[in-house]
Amino acid sequence: MTLKSLALGVAGLLIALLVAGAGYFSLRATDRQAAAPHRLRPGDPQVLHVGARIYAQQCAACHGAKGEGQPDWRDRGPDGLLPAPPHDASGHTWHHPDEQLFAITKQGLARLINQPDYRTAMPAYDGVLSDDEIVAVLSWIKAQWPPEVRQRHDEINVQYRKSLSQ
Ligand code: HEC
Repeated sequence: MTLKSLALGVAGLLIALLVAGAGYFSLRATDRQAAAPHRLRPGDPQVLHVGARIYAQQCAACHGAKGEGQPDWRDRGPDGLLPAPPHDASGHTWHHPDEQLFAITKQGLARLINQPDYRTAMPAYDGVLSDDEIVAVLSWIKAQWPPEVRQRHDEINVQYRKSLSQ
């Protein structure tokens, strides 16, 4: 083997590695997007426009026009069910990462807490709202929170995603 063909061989190998590496990283990026299609977008005016409409149509009757919830929402009513909690900063909606809020709204609480018999007034919106509509309404809810609560929610998301990748 001449020196020149050796050099060409090494160069070829390096290029192959680079191409494979780039492929790997772009795959990782697509993976991450695929794993996170339900992230809230409280900074996107178009999403908020849709979200506000859906909130008024689907959620306000129980959670209140401004997300104030029903009175005495911490105590179960005579029917044994919990009233609708507030979605504003006084409630604990913002304690849940995006993925959980999405799952609660789409699949319902019973699925999320893995207790199929859990009785709740909260409807599951699977088949009623599309995934994009659920993201939109939750984004609108988040957009109503004061900046410091939004920031704490961003941190909750970061912590939650870290805990998933460990
Ligand atoms: C028929 C009344 C009703 C409607 C309509 C309703 N909810 Fe609820 N929601 C509830 C109740 C009641 C709870 C508390 C459930 C429990 O813990 O049993 C709840 C809980 C939730 C929670 C969990 C909050 C937390 O702090 O853990 C989220 C998120 C939520 N609702 C989102 C929505 C969204 C988004 C809509 C509209 C698309 C909506 N809800 C419409 C009654 C309702």
